[in-house]
Amino acid sequence: MNLLSIITGRPGPSGFGSASTAEQVTEGIDASNLTAIVTGGASGIGLETARVLALRGAHVIIGARNMEAANGAKKLILNENAAARVEVLRLDLNSLKSIRTFVNEFNALGVPLNILINNAGVMFCPYQLSDDGIEMQFATNHLGHFLLTNLLLEKLKNTAKTTGIEGRIVNLSSIAHLHTYHEGIRFDKINDQSGYSDKKSYGQSKLANILHAKELARRLKEEGANVTANAVHPGLIMTNLMRHSFILMNILKVFTYILWKTVPQGASSSCYVALHPSLKGVSGKYFIDCNEIAPGALARDEDLAKKLWDFSDKLVTSLSNP
Ligand SMILES: NC(=O)c1ccc[n+]([C@@H]2O[C@H](COP(=O)([O-])OP(=O)(O)OC[C@H]3O[C@@H](n4cnc5c(N)ncnc54)[C@H](OP(=O)(O)O)[C@@H]3O)[C@@H](O)[C@H]2O)c1
Repeated sequence: MNLLSIITGRPGPSGFGSASTAEQVTEGIDASNLTAIVTGGASGIGLETARVLALRGAHVIIGARNMEAANGAKKLILNENAAARVEVLRLDLNSLKSIRTFVNEFNALGVPLNILINNAGVMFCPYQLSDDGIEMQFATNHLGHFLLTNLLLEKLKNTAKTTGIEGRIVNLSSIAHLHTYHEGIRFDKINDQSGYSDKKSYGQSKLANILHAKELARRLKEEGANVTANAVHPGLIMTNLMRHSFILMNILKVFTYILWKTVPQGASSSCYVALHPSLKGVSGKYFIDCNEIAPGALARDEDLAKKLWDFSDKLVTSLSNP
């Protein structure tokens, strides 16, 4: 995809482009035999993703920290589609304890799991630490999803094995992965406040989302598991994500308005990668506007992806056993 395609909405090789909506890219797909978890599904791209997956018949579990907003999202989906199967469970990705509770509650539902959409995120927050004492953007956008995915992995693999239906994991990354610290991930300074940049830390966490999907895909392939893992950049969409940069983003939008997408367009890549039959067996890739594209050099670095995996694994273990 090039700038012209983004501006004009001209479809890429997949047949879809920046103007395609989540409903359009999933038209005719029957997802009634699928169960999906969408993190951060109470607003923005996650809510639209949950809505469209449910519209296609999937049983959707929204993981959200704000239960009032999550129940509002559920109501909105049911108002439009009374047959929708939607549930909400509390999930705070800032807290490893909350993630473990969420997984226990999900397991107690006794349902299978075909799709995990790691969508929740925060952007450009001032320096702060998560409940477990980790820099907030890295903790929420990457580390929380890393633990969540690992805790749900056996369920995803078993569901794929018993049903013969490919499982899919989708990580919401961003083009912002190109704007990170010069070393990519600051392994030895993950909590360093003095060198903290809200923009670069967001970029770092979004780089981590791609590297996570890449290394996960490699591991799943090695094991012969029938589960794929990919990352997407949804486009530029005005959502609550801009809460820490509202003025900056609105000024930026004035000059770049032609590049911005609506929320239904913003959810297209997540829904496409989660449901589209043409992506069977496609794993470890990065998508923009429903088309595969090469991410930046750091995001293609296999050693960095392995290093991040080991780092995240050790960090989660040490935080879980203080
Ligand atoms: N919008 C864009 O232009 C854009 C561009 C590139 C990538 N993305 C990515 O797309 C994803 C969705 O963003 P969006 O634009 O739809 O923003 P959004 O409307 O703010 O949605 C993000 C969701 O994540 C939730 N969340 C944040 N912190 C959480 C936590 N600790 N635990 C659980 N949930 C948490 C938010 O809940 P609360 O309301 O409770 O905070 C919200 O529901 C993000 O990963 C973002 O990085 C967006």
